[in-house]
Amino acid sequence: MNILLTGGAGYIGSHACVVLLEAGHDVIVVDDFSNSSPEALVRIEGIAGKPFAHYRVHLADRPALRAVFEAHPVDAVMHFAGFKAVGESVEKPLLYYWNNVTGTTVLLETMADFGVRNIVFSSSATVYGDTDRVPTDELCPAAPTNPYGRSKWMIELMLQDLFRSDPSWHMAILRYFNPVGAHESGLIGEDPNGIPNNLVPYIAQVAVGKREWLRVFGNDYPTRDGTGIRDYIHVMDLVEGHLAALDKLAAGPGFDVYNLGTGKGTSVLEMVAAFESASARKIPYRILPRRPGDVAVSTADPTRAQRELHWQARRDIHDMSRDTWRWQMQNPDGYGRNG
Ligand code: UD1
Repeated sequence: MNILLTGGAGYIGSHACVVLLEAGHDVIVVDDFSNSSPEALVRIEGIAGKPFAHYRVHLADRPALRAVFEAHPVDAVMHFAGFKAVGESVEKPLLYYWNNVTGTTVLLETMADFGVRNIVFSSSATVYGDTDRVPTDELCPAAPTNPYGRSKWMIELMLQDLFRSDPSWHMAILRYFNPVGAHESGLIGEDPNGIPNNLVPYIAQVAVGKREWLRVFGNDYPTRDGTGIRDYIHVMDLVEGHLAALDKLAAGPGFDVYNLGTGKGTSVLEMVAAFESASARKIPYRILPRRPGDVAVSTADPTRAQRELHWQARRDIHDMSRDTWRWQMQNPDGYGRNG
């Protein structure tokens, strides 16, 4: 199939690109490189051993996006492009709504104009907000707590309305828990801009000596060691979930929502220990107050994806730590776009 990937140079998109190419699909990447590097595309081609088309286009640039659809037959879209920093979204909500929601609106209009009605959308467990329904299943009501989360939820609502107006669409909404890890080659991985917001990239930078110590945000949560618990999922498991979603789309029209997680929770200190063992380096840390907006525990109930997509995460936190470490060690400055 011909699959158009928005955000195909980004963290998740680049890994998806590799597995799609390896599965025999043709890929067209659309990315504006606002939070990614063209170097990722070079690396993907090296891993997959197969060239693919790519364009520097912002989704809200309608003429440029139309030109891509005119140049290539497209069977399905995987929509990864989007801003994702929670703190920044609180400071610049309109930027997030414009980039994420407006960009998606133009994408969907363009798809409809070209008769493309297959989409896999990257949503997030963040749409559940501060729920006490843990592990969280897809029937848990959405209650996002920040503009980033609300932009994801708005897109889900938009897709739902579009499906109601035209049930010939094939839509899969994938709610990611905490993606970490990297391709086992160590050639592609997560390349955060500036100081990492997320735990695992921060730990990796401490391990490689770029940062002195980890800030552990709170050890007074009602959890086994007092630190926050999350459902970390290896990015390769995650993108394999997208391949499974693509098969589901082919089975017929529909609007389906799936959690992609392992169902297992790991605390901050457990992740630190796993990383120390994978890297054979000490990760110094200090306990700080809780980070505003954090919840104690977030884990997925991934039963629906297991049942309907015949997909299950296979990699554990040791695999996640080992592969993150390999990427970090081989690329201490990521793709080098931070100077
Ligand atoms: C965060 C976002 C979430 C987003 C996800 C993307 C917030 C509040 N939530 O989720 O909306 O979808 O990233 O991957 O930003 N921690 C530390 N020290 C650090 C960083 C994190 O102790 O330097 C702790 C946190 O308190 C938390 C755990 O590590 O308990 C995981 O944090 P993080 O990786 O930022 O993910 P989330 O907060 O789950």
